[in-house]
Amino acid sequence: MQHVAAFVRTRFLDVLALRALRSLIFAMKRQLIAHLLESEAEQEDVFVQGWVRTRRDSKTFFFLELNDGSSLKPLQLVVSEGVPGYADSRDIATGAAVSARGRLVASQGKGQSWEIQVAELSLVGSADDSFPLQKKRHSNEYLREIAHLRPRTNLFGAVFRIRSKLAFAIHRFFNERDFVYVHTPIITASDCEGAGELFRVTTLDSAQPPKDETGAVDFGQDFFGKSTYLTVSGQLEVETFATALGNTYTFGPTFRAENSNTSRHASEFWMVEPEMAFCDLQGDMDLAEEFVKSVIQDVVASCADDLQLFCNFVDKGLAERLQFVETRPFKRLSYTEAVEILKSCSRSFEHPVEWGVNLQSEHERYLTEEHFKCPVTLYDYPKTLKPFYMRANDDGRTVAAMDVLVPGIGEIVGGSQREERLEQLQENMARHGISEADYDWYVDLRRYGSVPHAGFGLGFERLLMFVTGMANIRDVVPFPRTPGHAEF
Ligand code: 4AD
Ligand code: MG
Repeated sequence: MQHVAAFVRTRFLDVLALRALRSLIFAMKRQLIAHLLESEAEQEDVFVQGWVRTRRDSKTFFFLELNDGSSLKPLQLVVSEGVPGYADSRDIATGAAVSARGRLVASQGKGQSWEIQVAELSLVGSADDSFPLQKKRHSNEYLREIAHLRPRTNLFGAVFRIRSKLAFAIHRFFNERDFVYVHTPIITASDCEGAGELFRVTTLDSAQPPKDETGAVDFGQDFFGKSTYLTVSGQLEVETFATALGNTYTFGPTFRAENSNTSRHASEFWMVEPEMAFCDLQGDMDLAEEFVKSVIQDVVASCADDLQLFCNFVDKGLAERLQFVETRPFKRLSYTEAVEILKSCSRSFEHPVEWGVNLQSEHERYLTEEHFKCPVTLYDYPKTLKPFYMRANDDGRTVAAMDVLVPGIGEIVGGSQREERLEQLQENMARHGISEADYDWYVDLRRYGSVPHAGFGLGFERLLMFVTGMANIRDVVPFPRTPGHAEF
C-alpha cells in the first residue's frame, strides 16, 4: 500500500513540476518580434512565440527564422546542442509553432540586426512536410485556394496588417474632425442604389414557401413580416443621423449580387460612407480628396516596412504614385468635359463615348493613366445614370454627383449632394418607380427641418488595392466572396 502511495505521490509531484515548468514558460509574456527588432541594446532574457518560416541545420546547432505576425521581418533563433528542448527539435520544421527564451544579441549574419541565442526552446504545435507553404514562391491564384493559410506568407501578412492600419486611419480621420460613427443596419428593407442587386434575407422554407392568393411567395409570412435584404449601402440610414448629429459616417460590410467577374468587384465588400449636413457638392468633393490623401499619408507613415515589400515586388511604380497622391491636388472636371476629352482623343475605345453613357473602365483609365496621369474627380453626371436620391441641377439634365477615379483601378469613390427639396425628391421617386410608402421615413427628412446635405461612399478594398498595388480585389479581402465563390 505504502509503495502505491509513494508512487502516486511521486507521479503527482512530477506532473506538478512539469506543469510548473510549462506555466513558467507560458506565463512569461510573449514579446513581439517587431519590437525586439527595434531594440536599442542587447537584452538578457527575452521570450518569443511564433511560426517557423525556415530551418537551417549545422552540426552542433541550427537556425530558425521565426515570424509571429507582428512584422514582415522574421527573427533568427540560434539553437545550440544541449539547450533544454534541443532533443525534441527534430519535429521543428517549416510551419511549426514554437516558444523560445533566450538572449537578444547583435547578429553576425547579413540582413538582420538582432538574433536570439536560445536558452530554452519548446515546440507548441508541429507541422509535417505536407504544410503547403514550404519556402518557394506560390502564385496568388494558388494561395486563394488556401486562404486560411495565406496570412502566414510575407505578402499576405503585409496585406492584412496594412488593411488593419488603413481601417484604423479611417476612424482616426473622422474622429479628429468630430464626425459621429453610426452603425447602420446590415439587414434592411431598402435598396439604396435602386439597381436591384440585392441578396434576399429569408427564413422561409425554400422547398415549400407560403404563397399568396396570386400564387407568388408570400414574404408577409417571412421572419420580418416583409421582404428584407443585405444592405448595398448604409447611406439612406446614415442620412437620418446626419440630419440630427451633423457630421457622421458609417463603415461596414455591404453586399451586391451583381454578376461582375472583374478584378475590382466583390459580392461582399466594405464601404466608408461619410454624410454631412449643411454641405454641398463642392464640400463633398473637398472632403473626399482630403480623406484619400490623409489616410494614405497615415498608412505610408505607419507601415513603411510592409509597403516596401509592395514597392519592391508587386508594383514598381507604387512609391512614386503614393507620393504623388499625397502631395498633389486631384484634377477636377465635369462629366461633360470628360466626355469631350474622350471623344476628341485619338484612342479608339471598345465602348464608344457619347454624352449620356456610363463611363467604362477603359475610359476612366484613359483619363487617369494617360490624359491627366493623376486621380480625377468627375462631377455633374447625367441624371438618367444615377439613383433617385441625387440632387437635380438647374440645367434639368444633370445631377450633383461625383466620382473619384484613380490610376490602375478607376472608380474608388462615388457620392453626391442629396435632393433635400420635398417635391423634387417625390418627383424623382415617381420617375424611378419607387413607392413613397416604403420610404416614408426617408421622405420625412425633407418634411422636418430639411437641409442641404452630401456624402460619398469609398470602396475600402479598392483603396487598399491602390495603396498596395495589389491587382485583384480577391487578394485584399481575407475570405473573398465573388459570383460562384463563398469558400470558408
Ligand atoms: O458608387 P456606389 O455604388 O455608391 C453608393 O453606394 C452610394 N450610396 C455611396 C454614398 O454616397 N454614400 O459605391 C461606392 C463605392 C464605389 O466607388 C466603389 O469604390 C465601391 O463602393 N464599390 C465596390 N467595391 C468592391 N466591389 C463592388 N462590387 C463594389 N461596388 C461599389
Ligand atoms: Mg458608383
